[in-house]
Amino acid sequence: MAVEQKVIVVTGAGGGMGKAIIHEQLKLGNRVIGLDLSIDALSDIAQDALQCFEVNVLQEERVQDICQQVFDKYGRIDGLVNALGIAQSATPIEEVTMDEWNRLMDVNVKSLFITTKAVVPFMKKQQRGSIITIASISAVRPRPGLQAYIASKGAAESFTRGLAIELASSQIRVNTIHPGPADTQMLGQFAAQGADVEQTKQSVFVQSVPLGRLVKPADIAGAVSYLLSDAASMVTGTTLHVDGGRGL
Ligand SMILES: NC(=O)c1ccc[n+]([C@@H]2O[C@H](COP(=O)([O-])OP(=O)(O)OC[C@H]3O[C@@H](n4cnc5c(N)ncnc54)[C@H](O)[C@@H]3O)[C@@H](O)[C@H]2O)c1
Repeated sequence: MAVEQKVIVVTGAGGGMGKAIIHEQLKLGNRVIGLDLSIDALSDIAQDALQCFEVNVLQEERVQDICQQVFDKYGRIDGLVNALGIAQSATPIEEVTMDEWNRLMDVNVKSLFITTKAVVPFMKKQQRGSIITIASISAVRPRPGLQAYIASKGAAESFTRGLAIELASSQIRVNTIHPGPADTQMLGQFAAQGADVEQTKQSVFVQSVPLGRLVKPADIAGAVSYLLSDAASMVTGTTLHVDGGRGL
């Protein structure tokens, strides 16, 4: 029996987690639409089932247009994975500028509103869908100096829960993943300015994970695959911690 090919939209596609999620979805035989500011990192994936768009996801009309194109072409959008995001360099609140606060809220929160609003009409039409947002364990287990980032990830989780109840009657499931410190280029960006990044990774981040290592992008890709799959058909409004116990 042929396996049904799902159509999955992934933002932050060129990032550490985004790329791992794409690899995993392609392996499962699904079609992936990848969105990122830069898609250079995806140039080594030569597969017809991957279509990439170089786009700033804050451009609402562009995102809506892409989703319309995808639905017109394939007749379905089964999943949305919000894997984009930006970090905050650890900074005391007195030194955080309004521009920095706004930038974090725009990229980490407003983008979720834009992408979700763009796919929901199609998911409602099909009466089926799974939306996953990669937030952060820091929303519930904070570190000093990351207040704006943490607030943006708390908003992401609340947004997910609000939508889960709103969209349940349309059979659209909405869930959050909270990664712990993960082995991508973003991790070093959480270090304070002037700090030794490699040393901070070991002395602060690895040390804080009870299971004793950084989260790998593949760990997140596995959790995403589960939440997108029919095995999770009764899972909505939840937050899956993929953090090696960091949140304990
Ligand atoms: N790396 C970690 O330690 C860690 C821990 C917890 C949570 N997270 C979260 O996981 C998610 C993925 O992070 P990552 O580690 O893969 O980071 P990453 O920096 O490797 O990837 C993020 C991607 O998002 C893209 N992006 C940023 N702004 C965009 C925009 N406006 N439009 C389109 N694309 C945009 C970037 O170009 C980049 O490719 C993020 O939401 C991050 O906050 C990361």
